[in-house]
Amino acid sequence: MKILLAGASGAVGRPLIARLLREGHEVWGMVRRAENLPVIQALGASPVEGDALDRAGMFALLDRVRPDVVIDQLTSLPSSPFDLAQRLPADRVLRLEGGGNLHDAARAVGVRRYIQQSCGFYLKGEGGLATEESPLRTDAPGGIGESARMYEALEKRVLSDGVMEGVALRYGFFYGPRTWYWPDGAFSLHVRKGEVPVIGVGRGMFSFIHVDDAAQATAAALRRLGEEAVYYQNDLSGASNQRARSFLGLEPKNTPWLEEI
Ligand SMILES: NC(=O)c1ccc[n+]([C@@H]2O[C@H](COP(=O)([O-])OP(=O)(O)OC[C@H]3O[C@@H](n4cnc5c(N)ncnc54)[C@H](OP(=O)(O)O)[C@@H]3O)[C@@H](O)[C@H]2O)c1
Repeated sequence: MKILLAGASGAVGRPLIARLLREGHEVWGMVRRAENLPVIQALGASPVEGDALDRAGMFALLDRVRPDVVIDQLTSLPSSPFDLAQRLPADRVLRLEGGGNLHDAARAVGVRRYIQQSCGFYLKGEGGLATEESPLRTDAPGGIGESARMYEALEKRVLSDGVMEGVALRYGFFYGPRTWYWPDGAFSLHVRKGEVPVIGVGRGMFSFIHVDDAAQATAAALRRLGEEAVYYQNDLSGASNQRARSFLGLEPKNTPWLEEI
């Protein structure tokens, strides 16, 4: 499959390139900064430079690459969670508007499936762990509520497209190389400096996923059947031609596939 990966130089993008190539796909890795093009090249993918916020640029890029599948891993997050509040507005613009440009451009060139990064840690578990059925915490205070509403909008965009098959992957907090939660990551450094207090009884539960595991699941989402394909193969009832036989004299003869069996 030919895949365009947006956010290719990020914490998930890099292991995802390796995984997709191992599984035999042709991967085009999109980055915004030219200095990251050699990174993509070194990982074995075809590098392509593009700013998701440049709508015309996205249409031109998609027209040039013409992938079967687009994977949106666009983020604009800081290297330290302590700077999150300042960066969230720009991150939201990138995901909503930049991702929207990418999504529209993908549809325009006939992309078959669009895989969207979403979030599993702002879900509302009712008295236990949240599941796929759980709603996002859109009524949470401040930035959490705003982010949850953003993820809700992203999910709606891909799942209700009607033309492309949409998949929204609700990842946990990423850990692994290049993340906040790796031994050299910003969160770990803040903990070691004693800068992360436990607030109240500290009973909030963090669900993590290693970036390599996220890459494995994302690669699997390329092939998993969409809801409609499952429905076709399991729920269609067929239709009787009895009435057409008796009223119209229908005698179906053109069934060559039956003769070949
Ligand atoms: N959901 C999450 O991703 C998430 C959640 C919580 C915490 N974090 C933490 O945030 C940190 C960074 O995560 P990350 O790897 O996702 O971010 P990242 O390393 O900054 O990667 C973001 C990717 O998006 C691309 N990009 C950014 N702006 C773009 C634009 N306008 N047009 C096209 N591409 C653009 C970047 O390309 P360039 O590099 O070329 O700019 C890069 O490939 C990690 O430490 C992680 O632990 C992430």
